[in-house]
Amino acid sequence: MTKQLNLVQHTSNLFYTAPDALLAERLCQITGYSKVFFGNSGAEANEGAIKLARKYGIEHKGEHCNQIITLRNSFHGRTVTTLAATGQDAFHQHFFPFTEGFRYVEANNQQQLLETLDDSVCSIMIELVQGEGGVIALDKDYVTYIDQLCQDRGILLIVDEVQTGIGRTGTLLCCEQYNIRPDIITLAKGLGAGLPIGAVLMNEKTSEVFQPGHHGTTYGGNPIACAGAIEVLNQVCDENFLPDVTVKAAHIYHRLLSMPNVTGVSGLGLMIGIEIAEGLDSRKIAVQCAENGLIILTAKAKLRMLPPLNITLKEIDKGLDILFQCLSNQ
Ligand SMILES: Cc1ncc(COP(=O)(O)O)c(C=O)c1O
Repeated sequence: MTKQLNLVQHTSNLFYTAPDALLAERLCQITGYSKVFFGNSGAEANEGAIKLARKYGIEHKGEHCNQIITLRNSFHGRTVTTLAATGQDAFHQHFFPFTEGFRYVEANNQQQLLETLDDSVCSIMIELVQGEGGVIALDKDYVTYIDQLCQDRGILLIVDEVQTGIGRTGTLLCCEQYNIRPDIITLAKGLGAGLPIGAVLMNEKTSEVFQPGHHGTTYGGNPIACAGAIEVLNQVCDENFLPDVTVKAAHIYHRLLSMPNVTGVSGLGLMIGIEIAEGLDSRKIAVQCAENGLIILTAKAKLRMLPPLNITLKEIDKGLDILFQCLSNQ
């Protein structure tokens, strides 16, 4: 990144830069996808995916085919359209009018999904582990059902891997653990490892939908962010890196389950939700942890952990000792 800073920091988006093209090539190579569009954030990646799905539906089935089904309890971002895609009433306040064309169904309910589907639906958009919604992994048979339904009906499957992607759940993409190959995958967070980048991965079915002029961004694919993302992929693709994520996750789950006031643990890999005893306030505990040197998140009534993937076992134990102490004092 620092080397790139001294070369080219920005160009007009009429041109490629080397890091931009190299990152695109690398991402496509390691995921098997055909093309990628770079933006600046997760919400932007999802906006791109939504635009692409609508254009595909309209071109293949007609103007009525523009509806997108998302799940209740999902989270897809904070722009007006991605808030509309987010299936939580709490996010549908204050900023009316929201973008039309989203329908929400309960996760893991096949019947409701089937009843909501008609020929105006161009896409189903899901997170495989609902992060902000409470760190809840979708049932495998439900995801297989959605995948099959999309293939049978010519509907695009969008998987929002903004949080689950790039090793967070122990595999490069969480899709691998569900044995699916969605038509569109969105990435951000872990890909940038601290610098702003978002990505829309397209397969052979979706890679020709956007043509020059249909979508764009001034800073997306910024060479410095791309240089950083290439290094992220170098490290994550090292043969020991992802197995290590799984070992660390198993260690954390094991210790959490023997802690006072912990009633359950959910999630996948280093995306961890901690259910705590009824009556305890997750936010209050998070503040106490922070006062003692541990930054821990909350998701609804749960505590939530998203440690850096390169955290050491020693650092993990230090953090878990603080959590143990805070939970013991409730
Ligand atoms: C699943 C998911 N999608 C989209 C977003 C939005 O990403 P960003 O904050 O980069 O816009 C988030 C952020 O938390 C997320 O967890």
